[in-house]
Amino acid sequence: MHKPVQHTPVPAPIRRVARSKEKARANYNRLSRWYDIIAGSTEKKYRDVGLQKLAARPGEHILEIGFGTGHCILALAQAVGESGQVCGIDLSEGMLTITQDRLRQAGLLDRVDLRVGDAAKLPFAEGEFDGVFMSFTLELFDSPEIPVVLKQCYEVLKSGGRLAVVALVKQPGTAVKIYEWFHEKMPVAVDCRPIYAQADLTAAGFHIQDVAAMSMWGLPVEIILAQKGGSP
Ligand SMILES: C[S@@+](CC[C@H](N)C(=O)[O-])C[C@H]1O[C@@H](n2cnc3c(N)ncnc32)[C@H](O)[C@@H]1O
Repeated sequence: MHKPVQHTPVPAPIRRVARSKEKARANYNRLSRWYDIIAGSTEKKYRDVGLQKLAARPGEHILEIGFGTGHCILALAQAVGESGQVCGIDLSEGMLTITQDRLRQAGLLDRVDLRVGDAAKLPFAEGEFDGVFMSFTLELFDSPEIPVVLKQCYEVLKSGGRLAVVALVKQPGTAVKIYEWFHEKMPVAVDCRPIYAQADLTAAGFHIQDVAAMSMWGLPVEIILAQKGGSP
């Protein structure tokens, strides 16, 4: 008698990102002045949960990837205090200008080091940071680049360092299918897409510490706290 063969279900692949980095840069430059009106209030509550999970402390050295209009950079700069430092990297010069203005108005520009660049090539030293924060940004990288970005996050963190990621995640459902349809038809305007964030972090060597599952317009969002080292 033959034994029944057990098939492990293969997860549906995530969508590829078809637009170039140059198109992304131009799009976010164009969007930078309007981003808070278009997305700011919708995304705030998810970013805030991410900041709570990262829980930056006085004296820490924190990196934010894809800082956008700088709300989280400001909160992080306040949290690390005078003895801490916050670095940020974003592809868009427009986002940099808005963020610099925000920090200048708050009198905290001297506490931050903001750079324009591609986070697939992080210009920071190994073991430099206590924490890395990324909100609605990991899902903008094309599938082969997600492990590259996460490997670099791992490298720039100290042992025991924390990574907080806020991301749209892929789960079965109509909202995800509709969103992916828009992503395919409008690859520049809708450049992010749901990913398997927890699996990506685990594959990069992180230990997942905590996950909050939320929903934005019916789309699943996960806010994940992971650690370099520590218990699985
Ligand atoms: C969807 S916005 C999110 C902004 C912010 N994190 C927030 O939650 O409000 C994505 C940000 O990532 C930046 N970005 C896109 N591709 C990037 C890359 N390859 N490297 C660094 N930043 C990037 C964009 O310029 C934009 O500011």
